[in-house]
Amino acid sequence: MKKIIVLYHSKTGFTQRYAEWIAEDLGCECRPIKGVKLEDLQDYGFVIYGAGVYAGMIAGAGKIKNWMGKASEKTWIVFATGATPSKEGHEELVFQTNFRKRESRPAHFYYFLSGINYEKMGFFDRLLMRVFAEAASRRAGVDRATALTSVNRCSRDATAELLRYVRLKAG
Ligand SMILES: Cc1cc2nc3c(=O)[nH]c(=O)nc-3n(C[C@H](O)[C@H](O)[C@H](O)COP(=O)(O)O)c2cc1C
Repeated sequence: MKKIIVLYHSKTGFTQRYAEWIAEDLGCECRPIKGVKLEDLQDYGFVIYGAGVYAGMIAGAGKIKNWMGKASEKTWIVFATGATPSKEGHEELVFQTNFRKRESRPAHFYYFLSGINYEKMGFFDRLLMRVFAEAASRRAGVDRATALTSVNRCSRDATAELLRYVRLKAG
């Protein structure tokens, strides 16, 4: 069995939650990517990386692509968390935007619905979201207060496919 590790980058806790659920279900290690070097991953054959989507971009995707290129013997899985409900083709769009054709790509990519947490957001992110919310309320008639309310739509069940894939490939 290949040794598995879950790494994550999480600003407001949604990705951390998913990462911890996945690691708990796989019985493997789980760590924030901050401070981790590629050399630290020598013992692991299977690396799962998760992060939030910010303005369409997966946080830390550049670093992961660099690592995937340097350690292509490992199996890399990436998951992204975002507040946009996954309609037909959404997961594919996030994947194609972040992992271009000639770039290193993970063996599998997953998108998990999360939410918005204004309380844990940093100052600049909150400012940005306020601007988005203003625009959304004007465009779509969404009540401004609703647009600025924290929401958590994480679901542990969403990880089932990822777990199935990893168990099959790492086992
Ligand atoms: C400034 C900002 C931009 C965001 N942009 C997007 C986006 O483009 N698409 C999306 O689905 N969610 C977007 N979100 C929501 C986050 O992706 C979501 O809250 C994510 O789960 C955050 O993960 P984290 O708290 O683990 O970092 C954005 C949130 C913030 C604060």
